[in-house]
Amino acid sequence: MDETLKAVYAQRRARLAAQLGPSGVAVIPTAPERGRNRDSDFPYRHDSYFFYLTGFTEPQACLVLTSEGRNALFCLPKDLDREIWDGYRLGHEAAPQALGVDEAFSSADLKSKMPQWLENRSSVWFPFATHEGLATQIEAWLTQVRARVRFGAQCPAQQNDVCALLDEMRLVKDGHELATMRQAARISAGAHVRAMQSSARMLRLGQDVREYHLEAELLHEFRRHGSQFPAYTSIVAAGSNACVLHYRADAAPLRAGQLVLIDAGCELNGYASDITRTFPADGHFTPPQQALYELVLASQEASVQATRPGARFTDPHQAAVRVLAQGLLDEGLLVRDQVGGLDDVIEKRAYFPFYMHRTSHWLGMDVHDCGSYVEPGNSDSGGSRRDPISGELILDRPSRILRPGMVLTLEPGLYVRPASNVPEQFWNIGIRIEDDAVVTESGCELITRDVPVSVRDIEALMRD
Ligand code: GLY
Ligand code: MN
Ligand code: MN
Repeated sequence: MDETLKAVYAQRRARLAAQLGPSGVAVIPTAPERGRNRDSDFPYRHDSYFFYLTGFTEPQACLVLTSEGRNALFCLPKDLDREIWDGYRLGHEAAPQALGVDEAFSSADLKSKMPQWLENRSSVWFPFATHEGLATQIEAWLTQVRARVRFGAQCPAQQNDVCALLDEMRLVKDGHELATMRQAARISAGAHVRAMQSSARMLRLGQDVREYHLEAELLHEFRRHGSQFPAYTSIVAAGSNACVLHYRADAAPLRAGQLVLIDAGCELNGYASDITRTFPADGHFTPPQQALYELVLASQEASVQATRPGARFTDPHQAAVRVLAQGLLDEGLLVRDQVGGLDDVIEKRAYFPFYMHRTSHWLGMDVHDCGSYVEPGNSDSGGSRRDPISGELILDRPSRILRPGMVLTLEPGLYVRPASNVPEQFWNIGIRIEDDAVVTESGCELITRDVPVSVRDIEALMRD
């Protein structure tokens, strides 16, 4: 790790340390390894909180950090026998120099050393929700500290969720994060271009094209640019499969005249990208496809305009919904006599059968990144109401105010299932358009537009 990067992680640790209160200590383990079957593990992926503070990707590691900023990494020790099987380990002796942490110990020493780190501290901070068994482990260490109270030791009286602090920090991306996310976005955009062009070319050549062929193109492009993994399971959905929101890439054939929806993004150096494009398998939109596509694109454009500092997180969604609802009325998918006017459609959520998800989520190390969607400090204000469709009690807390450096997706869509009250020309059309937006000082920047989005540009790309 170069000195600049070491300084980035050191600065994050210092910012966290400053929020631990007097005499606090934080314990942040990385993710466990997960077995797939017998001797096979799932590919290892570090814990995002841990990585955010260390940049370290090996398993079986843990960071300990005090309010005063003292920190130690526990990590796997060098072991040449194990390294023959599992590969290189940094080892705790090299860790301080390599990563810029103060001290490092073997992970085998964590259990014996932790009671000392907890002793005479007033609070202990750790992730409450992400590490199964950690609370029990902490409790066992605290029990050891309590056993020493009669010898003068103080046991932490408070336990706090360190993620509450880290979520806020992670919500606003720093320069290093934004640079990585831009690079991930560029790679993913290139992968979408490659998949679109492959689809048209293979159909032109009369080849059998399946969803998995396009998934292979995506993976090829991700990997050849150094991406470690897809940021989530890729969706490649031909025709009516696009109406299944969590469809995966399966084996359905792609046919001329059908739309294909691809929702795929790579993870690069710990950061996700998340792009959806919907395009005609053979590169030519039919008139009904184009009508709905232009509608979704217009709704996305409205959401882009609504994404700026000072706006609320829900503003892009409301802007997109307004355009979609009007379009559904105009195209006859909603009938005014039955559902009323635009405001009725929005209030009663009559658009819901065609648009049933939110327009945005935070994006960062995790594809659905952490960070509260409610503005902090206002959590008691706002009323409550019943959702008109599910009946769920909704607390109307003030939505998050957007600030420069926040990153969110803008991903409106329309999904039309066959139904007797829906014009048949629209049946089985599923469209989503998703870009990644960085909130800037004056608005937002879409970092995923290296893949075309207009009808004209998509058709041109697929012709060439
Ligand atoms: N690909 C996951 C999402 O769009 O939310
Ligand atoms: Mn998304
Ligand atoms: Mn997506």
